[in-house]
Amino acid sequence: MKAVVIYAHPNPMSFNAAITAVVKEELEKKGAEIIFKDLYAMNWNPVLSAGDFEGYHRGNVPEEIKTEQADISWADALIMVAPVWWTSVPAILKGYIDRVFSIGFAYEYSAAGPRGMLNGKKALLITTSGTDERAAQQNGMVDLITKSVVNAVFGFSGFAQYQHKNFFAVPTVADNVRKEMLTELRQLIQDNI
Ligand SMILES: Cc1cc2nc3c(=O)[nH]c(=O)nc-3n(C[C@H](O)[C@H](O)[C@H](O)COP(=O)(O)O)c2cc1C
Repeated sequence: MKAVVIYAHPNPMSFNAAITAVVKEELEKKGAEIIFKDLYAMNWNPVLSAGDFEGYHRGNVPEEIKTEQADISWADALIMVAPVWWTSVPAILKGYIDRVFSIGFAYEYSAAGPRGMLNGKKALLITTSGTDERAAQQNGMVDLITKSVVNAVFGFSGFAQYQHKNFFAVPTVADNVRKEMLTELRQLIQDNI
């Protein structure tokens, strides 16, 4: 199995960093080949530019986007790890999606409407929130992210299987609860990727 792991947190001491380490460990246990991307360390430029659009339409996609697209094409599974920021993912990850999941790569238009092109792959978005589960249910936070990122990006792009896992109240729960979250995550990777 071949996996691309995309990590979008600026702090190497964050819980997201711990999550990412566990994801990599569990994938290695499964014998997966892994390409790891730390978007902040890569200094990823998240702004979809006029030049990018021109590249898509002339078949002359910028090199940095081409590399990302080749890696995603190579992978059987795509895993993204990020905190919830303003009921979405951080701008650096949103901008990765904007630029890399482009027309002609992730989707195309046919007479019947848009058609996803990344068929047969699995995707998992792992997020962490400050909000606890009860408040998140009341304000619809998880549902919004599932719809706007997971379904809208992975579903639209034709992924065969995709899901979202959020860990709640990460900054305020006790250490042992965060440890239990990592244990739950290990099982999730083993069972679903
Ligand atoms: C810019 C910013 C926006 C945030 N927006 C939200 C939000 O909309 N909902 C929420 O539950 N938590 C929000 N948080 C809290 C983070 O999700 C939380 O601190 C993080 O998931 C904890 O994990 P970490 O230690 O890996 O950063 C926000 C934090 C920051 C810095």
